[in-house]
Amino acid sequence: MISSTETRVIENIADIRVWRESVRSAGGADKPSVGFVPTMGALHEGHMTLVRKAVRECRHVVVSVFVNPMQFGPNEDFERYPRSFEKDLQLIREAGAKILFHPPVSQLYSDGHASSTKVIAPPELTERLCGQFRPGHFTGVTTVVLKLFSIAQPDAAYFGEKDYQQLTIIKRMARDLDLPVDVVGVPTVREIDGLAMSSRNAYLTSTERKRASELYKTLCFVREESLSGRRTLEDVLKVAGDRLNKMPEFSLQYLEACDPNSLKPLETTQTPMVILVAAKLGSVRLIDNLLVT
Ligand code: PAF
Repeated sequence: MISSTETRVIENIADIRVWRESVRSAGGADKPSVGFVPTMGALHEGHMTLVRKAVRECRHVVVSVFVNPMQFGPNEDFERYPRSFEKDLQLIREAGAKILFHPPVSQLYSDGHASSTKVIAPPELTERLCGQFRPGHFTGVTTVVLKLFSIAQPDAAYFGEKDYQQLTIIKRMARDLDLPVDVVGVPTVREIDGLAMSSRNAYLTSTERKRASELYKTLCFVREESLSGRRTLEDVLKVAGDRLNKMPEFSLQYLEACDPNSLKPLETTQTPMVILVAAKLGSVRLIDNLLVT
């Protein structure tokens, strides 16, 4: 459905602050006043599910589009990360969000991100799983998310469960730093063949795209086999990981079953548990997870 709401594009912090002040008293008891959806743009149905949920649940919605240099490693894809601002604006307008915050890098990191103050979450959450392969990544994420929270001052902020480790770390940051924001996780949106939607799927060649759903199939296999009790959890993970690794183009980084809150690896099957996977398919790094309750 096309909404008639006008979306205002704001590029600087001072203007967001003025807008935020103007809606300060707008909240009623029934809904959070300001909902926030932070993104790096190249929006797809996964992002739009977050935006539409925020629009349903909050009086005003701010979406940010900011490709955050601090969360990319030196050999990662910051420069070539997909950017599609006009299309993003159109989608955000149709979804009915009031504000699109689109700052230049110089607004958020006036002296460059390398010398900026950083927010460091507990290493037991940030240094395992993706953190092993992307050193410093989660510090870049927590730093920019805290900055964006400080700028937009949302009552509720929406994140995809697709980035399960990121979501866990942000929830922990909000709790540890007593941030007055409700961090809401939203289930992963998948393509018909099960591939989790991600802006980086755009990098896949057509052959890789056909293969990519193997990641989700691996997660489902681990869930079914571990719940069946036919093999130990360790065996199931080994068999599933070896199967994926044997497929041409795939290179497994990790496949683990973890406690959904602490992200500590599990030795035996339990519920709830979260199964998390990361693999390179050609040159594209894909991640996915499955929560088993
Ligand atoms: O998930 C993302 O797109 C980014 O990590 C986020 C949360 C917008 C921070 O840059």
